[in-house]
Amino acid sequence: MLKVVVLVSGGGTNLQAIIDAVEAKTITNTEIIGVISNNKNAYALERAKQYGIFGKCISPKEYDTREAFNDAFLEEVNGLNPDLIVLAGFLVVIPEQMIKQYENKIINIHPSLIPAFCGKGYYGLKVHEKALERGVKVVGATVHFVDEGTDTGPIILQKAVSVQQGDTPEILQRRVMEEAEWKILPEAIHLIANGKIKVENRQVQIEG
Ligand code: GRF
Repeated sequence: MLKVVVLVSGGGTNLQAIIDAVEAKTITNTEIIGVISNNKNAYALERAKQYGIFGKCISPKEYDTREAFNDAFLEEVNGLNPDLIVLAGFLVVIPEQMIKQYENKIINIHPSLIPAFCGKGYYGLKVHEKALERGVKVVGATVHFVDEGTDTGPIILQKAVSVQQGDTPEILQRRVMEEAEWKILPEAIHLIANGKIKVENRQVQIEG
């Protein structure tokens, strides 16, 4: 059983997609053992509660220094002893020490086709605003391993989504979630849980 901890900051629709896929058994060999949020009002925590999943808020605001938060945060995650950490709309920078300790064991969902519209400052609605500003016709989402850079880790899965006439950032964000994020994030977890993913030279190989 792959023990998964999901880190969230907001509504948690990606968390919901993972929960639904575990229930529907499209993700197998996986147990969600905890949900950690930096925001106590995140609806994602409510979702965890509804399914009897352990939930916890740990916020940088409650600590005097970033180091103190990072230490407490790492301790909290280590206490759960996860095999995989899933960033599902988590807006806090992951401490360097956590990245080292969990090499190729942290995955993130990003709402663009990396390397387009990613890196510092590209999060949430901003990504979709920039895509519409540039006038691209195809957008999408990416699941990748987390390394020390911003959105630079090995790419696991990507899915393209069409831009349509008249799209607003909000409409486009929703379509990218529905057609890409909620599909490829559970799929990546399923592949990892079933030993189908290998990382060599920063490249992901998926076994058939
Ligand atoms: C998603 O668009 C995800 O790609 C981004 O943050 C959003 C999270 O939404 N990183 P939700 O909390 O899963 O509903």
